[in-house]
Amino acid sequence: MERTFAIIKPDAVERNIIGKILEKVETAGFRIVGMKKILLSTCEAEGFYYVHKERPFFNDLCSFMSRSPVVVMVLERDNAISAWREVMGATNPANAEAGTIRKDFGLSIEENSVHGSDSPESAAFEIPYFFSQLELL
Ligand code: CMP
Repeated sequence: MERTFAIIKPDAVERNIIGKILEKVETAGFRIVGMKKILLSTCEAEGFYYVHKERPFFNDLCSFMSRSPVVVMVLERDNAISAWREVMGATNPANAEAGTIRKDFGLSIEENSVHGSDSPESAAFEIPYFFSQLELL
């Protein structure tokens, strides 16, 4: 079993499609071992995305991620990290495969509805950024 970290981003929460995304999570065989709805400060978004701090889209990304609430989750399954990336689809919804979350719901490369850890190292940083061990069941 492996765990990955996922976010339902502001564009999706604003459009009231949390449930549609959770249906894809469960259909793909993930157990939701932690989940909460939170409003990130810009500072918290900057800390989360610090690996992108030199990228030209960093400031826009952090203000988008803090403009309204998100749902943060820890998902568990065999090969959870790569499996969740497949369920999400390509970063840019325009390049995502049919049936993926970003193809079905993403609006743009920034407002792409969901996030997922890209490696075990990222998951090891991202999960404890938001969850204590006591919150993972
Ligand atoms: P995410 O998987 O959360 O990781 C970084 C995010 O930066 C990405 O999804 C997009 O929402 C956002 N982003 C905005 N512009 C770009 C870009 N040009 N390339 C990659 N990611 C981008």
